[in-house]
Amino acid sequence: MEPLSRRNMLRAGGALGALGALSVATPAKAWTWSPQGSVAGAGVGADPRWVWDEEADPLVASLIDRGDVPMVNTLLRTWKKNGQPLPAGLPADLHAFMERARQLPPWADQAKLDLAVDFNEKRGLYLGVLYGLASGMMSTVIPKEALAVYYSQGGADMKDRISKTAKLGYDIGAVNAYRPDGEMIVTAVKTRLVHAAVRHLLPQSPYWTQVAEEDIPISQRDIMVTWHSLPTTVMRKLTDWKVPIPEAESQAFLHSWQVGAYLLGVRDEYIPNSWAEANSQATQVLDPVLRPTPEGIKLADILLNLGKGIDGGLLTKGILGSFTRFMLGDEVAGWLKIPRELVWDPLLRTAWGPFIAVREGLLPFPLAPKAYWLFDEFLRKAALLFLSEAKPISIEIPLTNRPT
Ligand code: HEM
Repeated sequence: MEPLSRRNMLRAGGALGALGALSVATPAKAWTWSPQGSVAGAGVGADPRWVWDEEADPLVASLIDRGDVPMVNTLLRTWKKNGQPLPAGLPADLHAFMERARQLPPWADQAKLDLAVDFNEKRGLYLGVLYGLASGMMSTVIPKEALAVYYSQGGADMKDRISKTAKLGYDIGAVNAYRPDGEMIVTAVKTRLVHAAVRHLLPQSPYWTQVAEEDIPISQRDIMVTWHSLPTTVMRKLTDWKVPIPEAESQAFLHSWQVGAYLLGVRDEYIPNSWAEANSQATQVLDPVLRPTPEGIKLADILLNLGKGIDGGLLTKGILGSFTRFMLGDEVAGWLKIPRELVWDPLLRTAWGPFIAVREGLLPFPLAPKAYWLFDEFLRKAALLFLSEAKPISIEIPLTNRPT
């Protein structure tokens, strides 16, 4: 059977028919999260599945069609810092858009953004591992994301893609992330342009159109799903692990990601205003969509092989796999065909809790067994792999899909 898609529904009976078909055909996926729980505090409550980026999408499609992208990419390579003026010579429409898109939202709170930096510094080791092995591996079982990534240009060179994605994780946590000498605004605005390009390009991929559920990828709902695989999942894990986090720091971390979502083009009415609201949205849109796809399994395998050769074997595929199992559970590990590890699986199950307690100073430090130091060393290496290794790499607008 042909997959249910907006295209099929539109074909079947026009826009109104499509909305009707949607509510009947996909009741479980209906969007019921209230905009009252958003940073806007109000909104029409329309399902963000049908909302993309009305400003960036036509603009980037036009840049591609009129052949401006190579020139734009060359110019944007020099645009690195938030406070830096845009390079001269950009097409006027792009320049005007980027000037608007680089502004922080009126609700951005600089004091919270500064405090988020403290949080990121204190928790940097955990964050590196969580972004890499919880969020990164989770992205391979978010089917729409896995398919989009696999069939887009970057899918053919995952190492390069990961370093670009890791750059965002690094920039959002770096000192001065959103200050004039930081880089997060630049990274987010460039990513918004890349996403717009992907919306134009992927529908032209003969592979993607065969497997995709929809005509146009990366809806605002999809962005929020991925967003939840990042800060919401990280906070869920830190809470599970009983890492003590002062309330103000937890709020600050959330805020840095709220601003991140805004800069990626997400409307205020879809950005949760609290962790409780984030969790309720994630329960609705993230948790139920997780499942394996052949493309996601291949991506996961590439990710697990990234540690090879970094440090003479400590970060072997087996350990990364074991951490993935520990963080995402047996079901996800099974989907991704991650083998069981005889040493690391039981060690993580029994020693991780006490290790966190020791690290957080809840238990007397001299009693820390050797295994805990092993974990600490692993954290350092893995954080380096997923975050600090993110070189000053340039995020560029793609012109093609994955080569055929
Ligand atoms: C590109 C981050 C949501 C699919 C990128 C890049 C970053 C990024 C930093 C630039 C890397 C590069 O150029 O390779 C994010 C963040 C998201 C998000 C932080 C949400 C909070 C999504 C979603 C999808 C998606 C929901 C798909 C459903 C892609 C694709 C590319 C891309 C296909 C381009 C890959 C390429 O051809 O190089 N994203 N993304 N992203 N993203 Fe996202």
